[in-house]
Amino acid sequence: MKIALLNGPNLNLLGQREPGIYGSETLKDVENLLREKISGSGMNIELVCYQSNSEGDLIDFIHQSKGLGIEYIIFNPGAYTHTSIALQDAIRAVTSPVIEVHISNVHAREEFRHRSMISCACLGVIAGFGMDSYRLAVEALLNK
Ligand code: DQA
Repeated sequence: MKIALLNGPNLNLLGQREPGIYGSETLKDVENLLREKISGSGMNIELVCYQSNSEGDLIDFIHQSKGLGIEYIIFNPGAYTHTSIALQDAIRAVTSPVIEVHISNVHAREEFRHRSMISCACLGVIAGFGMDSYRLAVEALLNK
């Protein structure tokens, strides 16, 4: 089985970007953490990691998920969460269920972050647990 870890804009800067909010770990650290978690499960799962700052590239990746054999997508859309109907439509257009993930608790931040354009198209949402948000998403899938 393949699971995708998909990250949107500015998440390539994890570790340097507003560490008070997003912590000091890098995106590579997140990928390594998830790989460890998956290999510890003993299940035959491949993690496919992709990050882009471009909305169109994220949409293209979601469209290609079926062709790539991806069964589930763990997705932190960054700020596109709050604006992108195009990403919502892309998620609705494919069969792979998506788990929406946020490092910070978006509901405890500025009002414009309280609304997600993509949650309604997702299997579930995890927010506010720092890097553990990603780990919890993997655990939810491993328990399926
Ligand atoms: C974020 C929250 C978004 O509001 C923000 O624009 C991000 C990161 C998070 O992981 O907490 O880029 O998705």
